[in-house]
Amino acid sequence: MTNNNLKFKKHIFICINKRTNGNKSCGEAHGMALVDAFKTLINSKKINAEVRAQKAGCLDVCEFGPSIVVYPEGIFYKQIGIEDVQEIFESHICNNQPVERLKISFNEKL
Ligand code: FES
Repeated sequence: MTNNNLKFKKHIFICINKRTNGNKSCGEAHGMALVDAFKTLINSKKINAEVRAQKAGCLDVCEFGPSIVVYPEGIFYKQIGIEDVQEIFESHICNNQPVERLKISFNEKL
């Protein structure tokens, strides 16, 4: 089933949740830098009307962080480094080819 009533072709949610209790959190890593990196690429391609990257709270996959999720597919990515942003952007966001090596498999044990 396809949904043609989407505001964005791709909507990227990037966890920037920060914990100060010593537990792992994406924001304590480099979540905000990931937001900036995706926004820079979106702006450089001038596709702001079709693709949105935004800050998000905890995505409930903290052990895999820094984490993002891309809709409409609902694909979660794990342990994203700044160096991975370009690949996700070119492959998944621009060419609809998810980056398999970075996908979270929910069959993995948390
Ligand atoms: S702190 Fe990022 S997924 Fe929970």
